[in-house]
Amino acid sequence: MTPASKVRGTQDKLNLSKQNKLIDFLKSHLSLYNFTPVEMPILEKTELFTGSLGEQTDVVTKQIFKIEKQGSENICLRPEGTAGTTRAFLENKNEINLPWKTFSFGPMFRYERPQKGRWRQFDQFNIEVIGKKSVFHDIELILMLDNFFQNNLELYNYSLKINYLGNNSDRENFREKLKSFLKENESSICQICNQRKDTNPLRCLDCKVEECKKVYKNAPIITQSLCKESLEEFEIIKNNLEFNSVNFTHDTQLVRGLDYYQGIVFEFSSELLGAQDAFCGGGNYELAKKMGSKTEYISCGAGIGTDRLLLLLEESNKIEILEDNKDYLCAILPISKEQNPLAIQVSDFLRRNKIKTQTIFDKKNLKDQLSFAFKTNSDFAVIIGEEEMKTNKLNLKNMATKEAVLVEQSKVLSKIKEWIEN
Ligand code: HAM
Repeated sequence: MTPASKVRGTQDKLNLSKQNKLIDFLKSHLSLYNFTPVEMPILEKTELFTGSLGEQTDVVTKQIFKIEKQGSENICLRPEGTAGTTRAFLENKNEINLPWKTFSFGPMFRYERPQKGRWRQFDQFNIEVIGKKSVFHDIELILMLDNFFQNNLELYNYSLKINYLGNNSDRENFREKLKSFLKENESSICQICNQRKDTNPLRCLDCKVEECKKVYKNAPIITQSLCKESLEEFEIIKNNLEFNSVNFTHDTQLVRGLDYYQGIVFEFSSELLGAQDAFCGGGNYELAKKMGSKTEYISCGAGIGTDRLLLLLEESNKIEILEDNKDYLCAILPISKEQNPLAIQVSDFLRRNKIKTQTIFDKKNLKDQLSFAFKTNSDFAVIIGEEEMKTNKLNLKNMATKEAVLVEQSKVLSKIKEWIEN
C-alpha cells in the first residue's frame, strides 16, 4: 500500500498558535470598529458563485471544487466568502440593521496550480460592510486595514494599490475602447488574452505575461472613461487617504479577479511574498440583484489571505509579534508506576493554580523522562520516587539554573512561584 499523503495544494498546520494569535488580533481590532463575527457554511450551492462572481472569471470557469451530486442540489466548496455573506444577509435581512458590518474566518477552496503562497485550500479572514450608502465606509475600511498592518503587526514592506472601476455605464464605455485596443494588438498578446478579449476584456489587464504587460502599458485607462460623479468619488477617496497619511499608488491596471466590483478596488501586496504577492484585496461591490433581490445593497469589503499574511510576517522578521507570552511549563516525573497516582494529583493541583503542567508517564527511566522534559522546554521538573512518597517531600528542579531542592508537597507551588518571579 502506498503511504497516506495529503491532497495536493493542502497543508497540515501542526501548530496553530501563531495563526490563532493573528485571528485574535484581527478580531479585537475589528471590534473597535463595531464589526460582528459571523459564520457561513463551507458548502454552498454552485449557482451562488456562477451567478455572482462572473461567468468568465477564472474562479468560476476553472477553480470551483464541485461536490459529487447529492440529491437534487449542485453543491460546491466555497471559493470565497463575499457571495455567502451576501446570501446570508438576503435570507435574514429583516433581523439585520444596515449597514451590516461583519467578519468571518475560515477555509476557502480554489482549484489552482499550487505554488508558494497559493494553495487549493487556504484560510481567509473576510470583512464586509453590506448595505452602506456613504463612500466613507470604503475609506474607513482601507484605513482600518492599513492601520492594522502597520500598527498591530508593524509591517512596512508592503504597498497599497488602488483603482476605480466606475459604474456600469463607465465600464461599458471603457470595455468598448479596450476591445478595439485589444483587436488592434491581437497579434502581440498571448493566447489567453486573445480568448478573453471579447468575453472579459478587463481581465486582460491583469495578465502576467511579459509581452502582454508591455502592450498594456499603452492600453486605454479606465479612470479616463469615468463620468463626473465617479471622478468626484475617486477624488474624495484619494484625498481622504492622503489626509490620513495612507501611502497608496493608483494602479490603472488593477481590475481584481471577481466581477462584482464597482467603484473603488484595492490590493495590499508585498514583494517579499514572491509571485503570489497579494495578501489582502477588496473593494466596493454590488451583488444583491445578481442573487435575485429586487433591491440592490451597495457594499464594500475585503479578504485577507491569512496564510500569506503569516508568510509575510515570517519574511519581514515580525513573526515574534505573534509569539505567546511566556507560559512557564512544569514537568512531573513519576519514577515508576506506583508513583503515578501521586503524580496526577500534584499535576492537577498545579493546574488548578494556573501553572501549565505536563505529566511524563511513558518513558523507560528517569534519564529519558528528564531528557523529554528538557526537549519539550519544561522550566521546572518535579521528580517523584519511592523515597519522596514516603517522606512526603518532593524533589523540585529548576531546569535553567539546575538548582534542585527537596520541598514539602504543600510548598511546591510557592517555590515554583518564587522561581517564576525571580
Ligand atoms: P481575493 O483577492 O480573491 O478576494 O482573495 C483575497 C485574498 O485571499 C488574496 O489577497 C490572497 O491573500 C488570498 N488568496 C486568494 N487565493 C488564494 C490561494 N489560492 N492561496 C492562498 N491565498 C489565497 C476575495 O476573495 C474577495 N471575496 C474579497 C472581498 C471581500 N471583496 C469584498 N469583500
